[in-house]
Amino acid sequence: MERETWTNKFAFILASVGSAIGLGNIWLFSWRVGAYGGASFLIPYILFVFGIAAVGLMGEWAFGRSQRKGAIGAFENVFKSKNEKYKGFGAALGLIPVAAIYSIYIFYTIVIGWLIKYFFLAISGSFSTMDIPSYFGSFPGSSASISWHGAAIIINLVIVYFGVSKGIEKANKIIMPLFFGMLILLLFRSVTLDGAFEGFKYIFMPDWSKITMSETWVMALGQAFFTLSLGGATMLVYGSYAKDETSIPSAALQTVTFNFLASLLAAFVIIPAVFAFNLDPNAGPGLLFITIPNIVNQMPGGLLFGSVFFLSVVFAAVSSSISMLEPAVEGFMDKTRISRTKTVLLLSVLAFVIGLPLDLNMSLFGKWVDITTVYVLPFGALVSAFVFFWIYGASKAREEINKGDGFKFGKWFEFYSKYIFVPVAVLVLVLNIAFGGIG
Ligand code: ALA
Repeated sequence: MERETWTNKFAFILASVGSAIGLGNIWLFSWRVGAYGGASFLIPYILFVFGIAAVGLMGEWAFGRSQRKGAIGAFENVFKSKNEKYKGFGAALGLIPVAAIYSIYIFYTIVIGWLIKYFFLAISGSFSTMDIPSYFGSFPGSSASISWHGAAIIINLVIVYFGVSKGIEKANKIIMPLFFGMLILLLFRSVTLDGAFEGFKYIFMPDWSKITMSETWVMALGQAFFTLSLGGATMLVYGSYAKDETSIPSAALQTVTFNFLASLLAAFVIIPAVFAFNLDPNAGPGLLFITIPNIVNQMPGGLLFGSVFFLSVVFAAVSSSISMLEPAVEGFMDKTRISRTKTVLLLSVLAFVIGLPLDLNMSLFGKWVDITTVYVLPFGALVSAFVFFWIYGASKAREEINKGDGFKFGKWFEFYSKYIFVPVAVLVLVLNIAFGGIG
C-alpha cells in the first residue's frame, strides 16, 4: 500500500500547528504566565521555543521523512543500517516514544471528555446554578465522566479512521481557523472588561524577582518541549507524511509562530478576565474548570463567552489528541499489515478500556499523568533526538532538514543539534524528574 502524504506544505503545517496547540497552550501556558510573573516567563519561553525546541521539531519531522516511517520503523531502519542484528533492538526502542504518546492519549481524552461536558454546562447556563468548586471536586473521578470520555474517544476514532489527508488534514483545516476565530471573538470580550488592563500589564511587565528564579526558566523549558509535542513519535510520524520538497526550516518557523500566537491569544483572553474579576491568576489545575466558570457567571455576555471558550478548548485539544493516536495507528498498521479501520477500532477501544480506572480514580489519574509526562514523554523526545542526531548522524540529519525548497542551515547546525540540543533534551528529562514535572 502506498504511503499517504499531506496534500501540500500548508496542510502539513496546519496539522502540526494543530498538534502543537493544545491544553498546553491554553491551560498550562496561562497558568505558567500567571505563576511566573507574566513577561518574566515569556522571555525564557520565547528563547527556548524558538531557539531550542524548534530544533527538536525539525529533527523529528526530518527523521520521519528520511525513513518514510513512524518511530518504530524509523528506529528499526537506522539500527539495521548499522548492523542487521540490531534491527529488533531499534524497533523495540522506537516503540517507547509511540507507547509514551499513546499513554498521553489515554489521559488526554479523559480531559477532553470533561471539557465537552463543561461546554454543555456552559451552553445550558448551568454554571450559574451550581457549586462550581465542589462540582469540579466530584465530577472527574466519577462514573459520570465515563460517557464524556467515550464521546472524546469516538471523535478521535472517526477522524483518524479517515486517514492522513481525508481525516487528520481535513479536520485541522476546519478546526484551526475556527479555533483562531473563536479566540479572537473571546479576546474582544476580555479586553473590554473593566479592569482588564491590569491583566495586560501583568503579561507585558516583567516581574524581575521572578525572572531570576531558576524555576521560571525550568518551567519555560518544559513548556517549550511539551507545546511542540516533542516526544519522538507525533511530529516524527507527521514528518513521515511530508513531501520531500517541503522546507522543514520554514515549516518549523511557521508552526512555532502560530503556536506561540495561540498561546498568547489564550493568555490575553484568560489573564485580563482573571484580573477583571479579582481572581487568582495562579489557580493551577482549577483555572479552566473553576476560575473560568466563575468568570462566566460574573461577566456580561458570560453564556456566550463560556460556550465559545469551552468549544475552542475542545477544538484545540482534539487537534492534538488525533496526533497522539496516529503514531500508534501507523506503527501497528506498519508492523501487522492490518487495515487502518481495524487498527483504529482496536486502539480506540483499548485506550478507552485502559482509561476506565482513571475515569473513576483521580489519584490513579494523577499518577498516570505524572509517569507519562514526567518520565516517559521526555525520555521519548531524548531517545529520538539521540538516534537521529547521533546515530543516524548530524550531517545526514542536516541534509534531510535542508532537503526542501527554501532556507538551508549551515554546518554549525550539526554542532548545535548534536552538542546543544541533545544535551538539553537530557536536561529536560532530568529536570522533569527533579521537579516532578515541568511540562
Ligand atoms: N502540544 C500539545 C499541547 O500543548 C500536546 O497540549
